[in-house]
Amino acid sequence: MNKSYVHGYDSRESRRLQDQANTLVELLHFDTSYQSGSRVLEAGCGVGAQTVSLARNSPEASFISIDISANSITKAKRAVESEGFNNVQFQQADIFNLKFEPASFDHVFVCHVLEHLSRPDSALTILKRLIKVGGTITVIEGDHGSAYFYPDSEAAHTAIQCQVELQRRAGGNAMIGRALFPLLRKAGFSSIEVSPRMVYVDPSKPDLVEGFTKNTFTAMIEGIRNDALNAGIVDQDVFDKGIQDLYRTTEADGVFCYTFFKAVAVKK
Ligand SMILES: C[S@@+](CC[C@H](N)C(=O)[O-])C[C@H]1O[C@@H](n2cnc3c(N)ncnc32)[C@H](O)[C@@H]1O
Repeated sequence: MNKSYVHGYDSRESRRLQDQANTLVELLHFDTSYQSGSRVLEAGCGVGAQTVSLARNSPEASFISIDISANSITKAKRAVESEGFNNVQFQQADIFNLKFEPASFDHVFVCHVLEHLSRPDSALTILKRLIKVGGTITVIEGDHGSAYFYPDSEAAHTAIQCQVELQRRAGGNAMIGRALFPLLRKAGFSSIEVSPRMVYVDPSKPDLVEGFTKNTFTAMIEGIRNDALNAGIVDQDVFDKGIQDLYRTTEADGVFCYTFFKAVAVKK
């Protein structure tokens, strides 16, 4: 499968992640701010879509944002600099091969990363080692099983399922949101609190119709068309009808719902 799409390496995907972050900033970030002097690791920062919100909401904390992709790091750096923040340092690094000392961070933040990893449990164990006792990890992930809409459409569910299947074949899990509690428990975190963040979109919220239903969710599913067809997991007609039906949910009587899961847990 074309991993470049999923990980945000091409410009359309970068733009989509940026759109997603802008639209969802309030919903996902309103309750994340770190104390003055805190040292925070952002693991898998991508093109910096969340980094900008982190830096803005915790101006007195210092962030180290890492990503395995050098290209994404360059874009993230640019995004943060263009907003005028100077509390973020960037490093190209692999979560599974980090050089930081144990207990060298007060907090860790991870967003839309675990869903791409074949060993999310090991990633959490590795990240836990880097957190000081009493520090926290914050994890945000989506769950494609949480998408429902009006008018309902079997073809749209099939198209979404193609994304789930392609991500599974690439080693990831597009329905990982529901598994945050068990994953964090398995990694040995305590005081785990998971809060579902539902994005509910109807025509009274035109920004979300554009920014989320069209430019984030439907664009993401539309973007896997070639991969899904090449993988032979769906008929072209069904997939195209699915996309058409997802766009149909953005019309005058349409409704779209999706739930992100945000977890905060403590290192004992
Ligand atoms: C979908 S993007 C999310 C980026 C950002 N957190 C956001 O919410 O916009 C997933 C990111 O995880 C990064 N990633 C995947 N595996 C990684 C690994 N083993 N170590 C570090 N970064 C990784 C990818 O390069 C990509 O930038």
